[in-house]
Amino acid sequence: MNLFLPFKNEPKINSKRLLIASILFLLITSTSQSQTLRDIAPNGKYIGTIVNGNFFNNQGNNGPNYEGVIAEQFSSIVAENDHKFENIMNNEPSDIYDINTYNINTNKLDRLIDFANVNNIDVKRGHALMWYNQAGWLNGAAADWSREKIYTFATNYITKVISYRAGEINEWDVFNEIISDNNDGFRTGTWYDNVVADGKTVQDFLDHCFVVSRNALTAALGETEGNKVKLYYNDYSIESYDTNPNSKNGFMRNMISEMVNRGVPIDALGLQSHFVSPVDESFTNSISQTMDEMIGLGLICNITELDIRICNGAAPASAAELEEQRDSYERVAAMAIAKEGCTGITLWGFTDAHSWIPGWSNGECGDALIYDNDYNEKPAYYGLASGLSVPCLNNPTVPQAPFSGTPAVIPGVIEFEDYDLGGEGVSYSDIDLSNNGESDYRDECDAVDVVTEGSETIIGWLSVSEWLEYTVNITQLGNYSFIISTAADVGFEGEGSIEVDGVDVSGLITFPSTGGWSNYQDTEVINIALNAGEHVLRFNVESGSFNIDKMTISSSTLEIDNFDLNANLKAYPIPFNSTLNISYNDIERTESLNLLDINGRKVLNQKYNNEAVIKMSAENISSGMYFLQLNLRGSITKIIKVIKK
Ligand code: XIL
Repeated sequence: MNLFLPFKNEPKINSKRLLIASILFLLITSTSQSQTLRDIAPNGKYIGTIVNGNFFNNQGNNGPNYEGVIAEQFSSIVAENDHKFENIMNNEPSDIYDINTYNINTNKLDRLIDFANVNNIDVKRGHALMWYNQAGWLNGAAADWSREKIYTFATNYITKVISYRAGEINEWDVFNEIISDNNDGFRTGTWYDNVVADGKTVQDFLDHCFVVSRNALTAALGETEGNKVKLYYNDYSIESYDTNPNSKNGFMRNMISEMVNRGVPIDALGLQSHFVSPVDESFTNSISQTMDEMIGLGLICNITELDIRICNGAAPASAAELEEQRDSYERVAAMAIAKEGCTGITLWGFTDAHSWIPGWSNGECGDALIYDNDYNEKPAYYGLASGLSVPCLNNPTVPQAPFSGTPAVIPGVIEFEDYDLGGEGVSYSDIDLSNNGESDYRDECDAVDVVTEGSETIIGWLSVSEWLEYTVNITQLGNYSFIISTAADVGFEGEGSIEVDGVDVSGLITFPSTGGWSNYQDTEVINIALNAGEHVLRFNVESGSFNIDKMTISSSTLEIDNFDLNANLKAYPIPFNSTLNISYNDIERTESLNLLDINGRKVLNQKYNNEAVIKMSAENISSGMYFLQLNLRGSITKIIKVIKK
């Protein structure tokens, strides 16, 4: 039995792809030393790291090659600590209602921006505008502030910082860590508590900070440029999917989706991702589920503080531990970077010589990064590189062309897997990047979910909005019937439609449950009028889940200008203007009449009304050639050409 379950949450990266990715990466690295992480990362996606305090102090005591490695390997940077509140505003301004640029440490922003510009680092992240932690004097002061004072201060602070060299920092963590660790909603016990007054909530304050950020950016840059700066909510322990709505993940998902629904200007969710090695596949699948849901809201969802620590007391990491860590980095990177809504991965450091983990874990854990203390690449470096090298991500498209070299002939049989060459957006559209069916029938990089079982090849995992196109050669103008063979397990069904040259010719077609994923049944659609010649036929998935095998297209009973002469058919006047009159022998055999335009689209419909002459009122259609389709009892269809003045 073969179950082609159209799982929505199928792992998008299968093991075969990982193997290919690894081989590809080995080939790349063994033939050339010049491939760095930023080269390997897919086009348009960044790989980032933090820059630490010494970097800002220009002390140069990070080790000889700290800045060199960053410039060579990374396409994004973020300050580990130096853009946090305590470092941007060391002292309480004399008038907190009147914050000036000299109240903020602009040199800290300059240093990051300038270094990035000199070294071609594409994405500069800002971390973080609002956070109860590392907030210096604010924590003490704001503990006594009113809700109003906090709002005003936050507005002024955010506006000053985000407007400084506005737009040069491409992404800002507007709010960091506002959710409690105790499955009880928003964090309490900080000055955030003070915003809850006069009917206002912590949520209102969070929304406010995003609105203020966006407003400041659009004021400084205009709407188009202002909207290009991505505004993030960033947090930890929110990564893996949890069905409990009170869990940190559940609360976060609800909070974010409500913000999106309310129109709060949030662009992105940051998953900090401070993980413990080994990270297994069920964990990355669970993160993947969170990311898909957030991306489904229209947000970017990125990994913003990745490190994967080894917790073995103070012992040096064993070779086996380093291998596990390698695989962990590979899994996280491969899972995330392949998603369209994931635009980058940021590491919380790159060398174990400078990592917050040993201090934070009291020496219990360490070795969390991809270079060792001496700046040598660890296995984790290669795991990350392999995870970033998604082989088909930038697969170029080619001009659309028939799969077999010549257009499929209609009438005839079209196998669905023989969709045109071209690629995503050209000859097909698939919602994810890999062939979940793993068939070798088509190009390795095609994302259409083709499945081969024995001698049968079909397409599974259909999802709404996916489509497939076929260049066809219609031998003659006429009326056709389509028999489409589909399968869907108990409890599943779906809908599709057929377009020719962009025009819907079928309307919605319902495909029933057939009781099994490999139990194929035929659904017939009749009276589809098609023009002769070469055309592009598209199959659209409109809803549901089903597998498709083939469509058999045959000519319906069709006669053009060739109506049984004895029928004494009259359609008059020709050309007609406001009314088309139709009469013929046996008129009582009529069920209905359709007037079709030259694309086969129904423009008028008239039921038989027992009159000797059928009148179609044609005032509102434009002039030109039409086909009059007579549907007679006994499934007989006749077509004649008529002309409107
Ligand atoms: C950490 C820094 O790495 C440390 O140097 C500092 O002492 C504490 O903060 N979540 C965050 C980061 O958002 O800002 C934290 O960075 C790590 C956890």
